[in-house]
Amino acid sequence: MGEWVAPGRVNIIGEHTDYNDGFVLPIALPLVVRCGVRLREDEQISVTSRQRPGHTVRAAVSELSGARDRIPAWARYPLGVVAEFVRRGHRVGGADLTLDGAVPIGAGLSSSAALSCSVALALRDLFAPTVTDRELIDIARAAENDYAGAPTGVLDQSAAVLCTAGHALFLDVRQFTRGADADGGAYEQIPFDLTRSGLELLVIDTGQPHRLVDGGYARRRAQCAAAAAALGLPSLRDVASVADLDRIADGEVRRRARHVVTENVRVLAVAEKLREGSDPREIGSVLSAGHVSLRDDFEVSTPALDTAVATAIESGAYGARMVGGGFGGSAIALVDRADTAIVADAVREQFARSGFPRPRTFVVVPAAGAHRVD
Ligand code: GLA
Repeated sequence: MGEWVAPGRVNIIGEHTDYNDGFVLPIALPLVVRCGVRLREDEQISVTSRQRPGHTVRAAVSELSGARDRIPAWARYPLGVVAEFVRRGHRVGGADLTLDGAVPIGAGLSSSAALSCSVALALRDLFAPTVTDRELIDIARAAENDYAGAPTGVLDQSAAVLCTAGHALFLDVRQFTRGADADGGAYEQIPFDLTRSGLELLVIDTGQPHRLVDGGYARRRAQCAAAAAALGLPSLRDVASVADLDRIADGEVRRRARHVVTENVRVLAVAEKLREGSDPREIGSVLSAGHVSLRDDFEVSTPALDTAVATAIESGAYGARMVGGGFGGSAIALVDRADTAIVADAVREQFARSGFPRPRTFVVVPAAGAHRVD
């Protein structure tokens, strides 16, 4: 018996850049998914979730790859991880998995990556200790893409595995997916200590679910690929300047590309400010500019997210933006600790006036990545 945990994440900046070979800057949340494992004598794998009492799903390890369509959607995340280990030639024995998630589902905080990474880490420790962190991230991502049917990039799984407490993770996705490690410049832990500066990071969960399996995310990916193809470039990472985008004939595709190109610049700017040890208040305006770009150029925001961001800024936040894939989910706001309650109340009141459901608000600090706890 053992227990492993993996966290959700918020991305400080760098949205929809991961599948364009660009840069991201997430932190891990103090909210985790727990995966308890009890080994079995037979070759069966079962999964139970505290969030779905009475629904145990069981299958033979060897039959998982063909069993996807019979498995309920929620169980495809953990069982997809098992299937992916097997597909890569690892011998996985029988086990009972017990899941318990504290990352809000559908809030854009990567509850699914927390789930898949907690299972992946457990299976690595128990059955495949030679698997590297990079492979682990790839296994979790492949399980989500191929088995659960959610077309994610590598942001969420990388955050869940690589983040460390007290730091933001600067990840250069191109370098990382090409095989570079931290020494090769693929990623870097940048100190991100808001408490010392009297600041807090407030999460505002709009309660409107963000769902990757709906088509909007996949359509944005296709438009980004089309933009790179129109420019004759391997990816939007390779665009030298926004002016080059004039060569894209389709106005909508051009705006999608402009978001990605300007967002990469914003990630580099924020990373540089934090590296220099500047006052974190200075990143606020960059976060807000990121929101405007997601709202107007990438068009993945919602009226509730826009209201959360605008109200947070009006009531004293240094910057605010939606996080994650969009079409619902959460926003973050960078606020003076003394103002956190004022900002949260203002957002709640404005939501009530606008007829939106009551948002959930909470403060987060950069927490540890996935690890064994027991
Ligand atoms: C979702 C995906 C990530 C990333 C973000 C947007 O969270 O899972 O891979 O693309 O959207 O930044």
